[in-house]
Amino acid sequence: MLQDDFLRRLDSSVMTNLFKTHRIVVRRAKGLYVEDVDGKKYMDFMTVITTAYLGHNPDFLVEAIKEAADKVIAGGSYVYYSEYLVEASEKLLSLFPKELSKVAFKPGGGEAVELALKIARKHTKRQEILVTMGSYHGRTTGSLSFHGSRRKEFGPVPPSMAYIPYPYCYRCPVEAENCEKCSESIARLIEYYLKFSGNRDYAGLIIEPVQGVGGVIYPEDSFFPRIKRILEENGSLLIFDEIQTGMGRTGTTWRFEALDIIPDIVVVAKGMTGGLPLAAVVTKEEIARSMEPGDEHSTYAAPPLVMAAANAILGYYKEKKGEILKNVREMGEYALKRLNELKERHKIIGDVRGKGLLIGIEIVKDKESKRPAKEETASICFNKALNRGLLLATSGWYGNVIRFAPPLTVSRDELDKAIEILDQSISEVEG
Ligand SMILES: Cc1ncc(COP(=O)(O)O)c(C=O)c1O
Repeated sequence: MLQDDFLRRLDSSVMTNLFKTHRIVVRRAKGLYVEDVDGKKYMDFMTVITTAYLGHNPDFLVEAIKEAADKVIAGGSYVYYSEYLVEASEKLLSLFPKELSKVAFKPGGGEAVELALKIARKHTKRQEILVTMGSYHGRTTGSLSFHGSRRKEFGPVPPSMAYIPYPYCYRCPVEAENCEKCSESIARLIEYYLKFSGNRDYAGLIIEPVQGVGGVIYPEDSFFPRIKRILEENGSLLIFDEIQTGMGRTGTTWRFEALDIIPDIVVVAKGMTGGLPLAAVVTKEEIARSMEPGDEHSTYAAPPLVMAAANAILGYYKEKKGEILKNVREMGEYALKRLNELKERHKIIGDVRGKGLLIGIEIVKDKESKRPAKEETASICFNKALNRGLLLATSGWYGNVIRFAPPLTVSRDELDKAIEILDQSISEVEG
């Protein structure tokens, strides 16, 4: 098989040990499908970690990239600007409330998170940052220290970080009796940190509205207005990492819209270009004004080709927003219902949770103990479902959550097909 040969060559040259992923070599991709070099097709329910969010290679995107490539490839907003940059920025900002009126671009999510933190520090003239445990904000050395999960070996983590629990309802870290109490207790903890941490003064809190890599964890909605108020009282900023939740994934363009808050800084990325590297920091005018020339630089920030892709995707999204969000909500509801039916039948499905098309399926040894079943989860995603032609990602604090995130254009038939494969794969693992 051609693929086996490619994989052998890959392992001898590329550091494939950096990340555990699906062992396939892709030749082409279109819509929901990815095809490997041997011609086998897979339904993509990871959408490149929510990046190919309208499906792979939509025609209008391919055309826009080709047209831009004919005109200008090299460039970036730190050397000169392009028309695409102007247009894409305006389109992106038009998707935000008017308070959030300034944007800066970076090539990747981790770098954008670092920029967001820089801006928060410069604006508030404070250094300390609150971070939630189990969060994920990237793996650059800087963003790594802003996330509350692992990687001691890449430390030391700056002393200016303080970690607080995240309201993980299924495994409440403060053992509250229900979700609302879990959120309430953690919000109170944030308040104590802000008010009673000796001489520490917090620039802000960085938080994902849904912990994606952490296991598709949705805090109870009222948590966010509560913490926004607490932060405001303390003069600290709310920095929302919407890299995974943005662009309609959970049924609203940004997750914060459903939470009745306006964060001070929002970081967005995936979905914005349909696959090319781009992330953005969006903030308020007065916060943006704190930065000065030389405070930031990145050769590959907003190159014309990437901005042409962003311009095309954002234009398409603006035009079809109603239709796209309707599909996300309807298909999300349908998928949740079907997956909850699976939960009733399978002893290793502990929890199913989600909004729109960002759904987590938590795999456990048994429902009573809730012991995380990491190996079983890996076997379902990287082996059983893969062999049946379905791409699913693993996630979670314990590596035991299946991330179910199809393109926002997915149909009911496609969901049925994927859920059937998932059902069979779980049965096989259960034995
Ligand atoms: C919420 C969140 N923040 C930050 C990142 C990091 O983005 P990147 O991989 O582009 O650095 C990710 C990537 O998955 C993410 O999901």
